[in-house]
Amino acid sequence: MSESTTSIKHVASPLARQTLLDGDLTRPVAGRRPIRLLPWLQVVKIGGRAIMDRGHEAILPIVEELRKLLPEHRLLILTGAGVRARHLYGVGLDLGLPVGSLAPLAASEAGQNGHILASLLAPEGVSYIEHPTIASQLAIHLSAARAVVGSAFPPYHHHEFPTSRIPLHRADTGAFLLADALGAAGLTIVEDVDGVYTADPKGPGGEQAKLLRETTAADLAKLEGTLPFDRALLEVMANARHLERVQVVNGLVPGRLTAALRGEHVGTIIHTGARPA
Ligand SMILES: Nc1ncnc2c1ncn2[C@@H]1O[C@H](COP(=O)(O)OP(=O)(O)OP(=O)(O)O)[C@@H](O)[C@H]1O
Ligand SMILES: [Mg+2]
Repeated sequence: MSESTTSIKHVASPLARQTLLDGDLTRPVAGRRPIRLLPWLQVVKIGGRAIMDRGHEAILPIVEELRKLLPEHRLLILTGAGVRARHLYGVGLDLGLPVGSLAPLAASEAGQNGHILASLLAPEGVSYIEHPTIASQLAIHLSAARAVVGSAFPPYHHHEFPTSRIPLHRADTGAFLLADALGAAGLTIVEDVDGVYTADPKGPGGEQAKLLRETTAADLAKLEGTLPFDRALLEVMANARHLERVQVVNGLVPGRLTAALRGEHVGTIIHTGARPA
């Protein structure tokens, strides 16, 4: 054997010779719970349609509430896309644009709402940061400020699944994916209704709808009809690694978001598929 052959360093890897498709082989390595990157972080998703589209009447009280929460919590505030994305879907679908073209355009609308919110919180040191910064420098930003704002839309962009013509993975899914990946302490979804009802409380026959105070992602998956968040969220919740629950609260009622972040039950608590540590 030549010297150069004997000096080759063989890197031992537990998955080197295995197909990654065989769960029995990968489980000993990949089956363990991931670490929590930011266990003290509270993630708050602000509805684009529910809050931001309403303008100052809804936005200013939420900004004030967020401002007062800063000494208590370190926050990742994520904004939804709202009505401008719906208009964009209408125009884009009329033109025949594929879902992979619509997704990044809708994401930019969510980002615009984030910029608006961040501008209002700027005196507190809060700024808007883009996804690559959230991915790689969130910790340093949250060391410099008590909160940052980002777009809740996940950056699937041109990789968005072509399952439907409207992007499947929207702001709620994006907020959950981030919160779970970061091992955050919690995710609160801020809507304009008291929580999740058995049917749309503002739709036809909505007065019959009952508020679900506590439910599971699995039970909601069985519920036919609409939800106040994207349905893809249910599937993601079923496979959650850290976040055991999410609370949906009414952001038009002052104090609800504050109470939710203090661990109070003031909206709908949805239990995910994550097992307690
Ligand atoms: N089962 C349900 N329970 C509660 N609200 C529902 C339900 N189904 C539909 N809704 C409606 O969903 C509305 C919120 O809409 P939506 O979730 O699209 O807004 P948003 O979260 O602000 O939007 P975005 O995703 O752009 O951030 C509520 O005002 C309510 O009328
Ligand atoms: Mg919603």
